[in-house]
Amino acid sequence: MQHLITTADFTKEEILELFDDARMFLDMESSEVLKGKIIVNLFFENSTRTRSAFEMAAKRLGAQVISLDVGTSSTKKGETIFDTVTNINAMKPDAIVIRHSDCNIHSTLIDYVDCPIINAGAGKNAHPTQALLDLFTIIKHFDGDTEGKKVAIVGDVRTSRVAGSNKRLLPRFGMDVCFVAPDCFKDESDEFKQYDNISEIIDDVDVVMSLRTQLERHNEVYFQSLNDYAKDYCITSETFGDRDILLLHPGPVNRNVDISDEMLIDPRNKILEQVTNGVAVRMAVLKKLILQNSK
Ligand code: CP
Repeated sequence: MQHLITTADFTKEEILELFDDARMFLDMESSEVLKGKIIVNLFFENSTRTRSAFEMAAKRLGAQVISLDVGTSSTKKGETIFDTVTNINAMKPDAIVIRHSDCNIHSTLIDYVDCPIINAGAGKNAHPTQALLDLFTIIKHFDGDTEGKKVAIVGDVRTSRVAGSNKRLLPRFGMDVCFVAPDCFKDESDEFKQYDNISEIIDDVDVVMSLRTQLERHNEVYFQSLNDYAKDYCITSETFGDRDILLLHPGPVNRNVDISDEMLIDPRNKILEQVTNGVAVRMAVLKKLILQNSK
């Protein structure tokens, strides 16, 4: 059985096939391809985009969705995630979508289930469907020509699972990833080029992926105020000038900290297109994993 725990679970060919399906699903027509299937959403961390997109994706494919309210579930009575997942699995769902703060829980949970597990966010490690929708958005923007494109991931790289997944996925499609961050947010490995300031590379980049500062994952206070951080790392119209650069952000955006109000209405920003693409890509992921497992 195939799960989606990291983007490495799919070959490049599988990803391109997923994107063929996602392109079809972009018309958002409803289909019956997953009629009779039931998908369970287990979100142990907050979410707007990912949870809603999985629900929409499932419903657009004719499946039914149960989103467990973790805040009122037996988790609050001390039930472990292993027991929660074992019990949900005993109800015979067709897929379980899980977001959790533990970086490695998803790969352990696959031993407890008889259906695909889809990682909807694992601590600071991985957010594979976000990276897939980011890649889909980039491929669409450049008409498939991603070879040699330079992508600067800006901000809290160290604790961002979006950076964690994209730094592995985008180079598989020929892209050159670098990071722009203050020292406290830099990647701990030296695998990628890292810069202190976006001005050092803005003339060379094709894509800027801005990140939210993950305050909830910090064990200490790095900046007295986010405004101090924003002085150097907020993407503004001055940062971009008239350069032809694609601006992405996984959301939620901290306005005027990650990206200025002005750049949020600039046509170079495709943040809402990312959200739309996120439904189509998740439709393709659900279809692939669930139908494969029903054969
Ligand atoms: N991009 C993303 O994961 O957003 P949510 O936290 O709202 O799901």
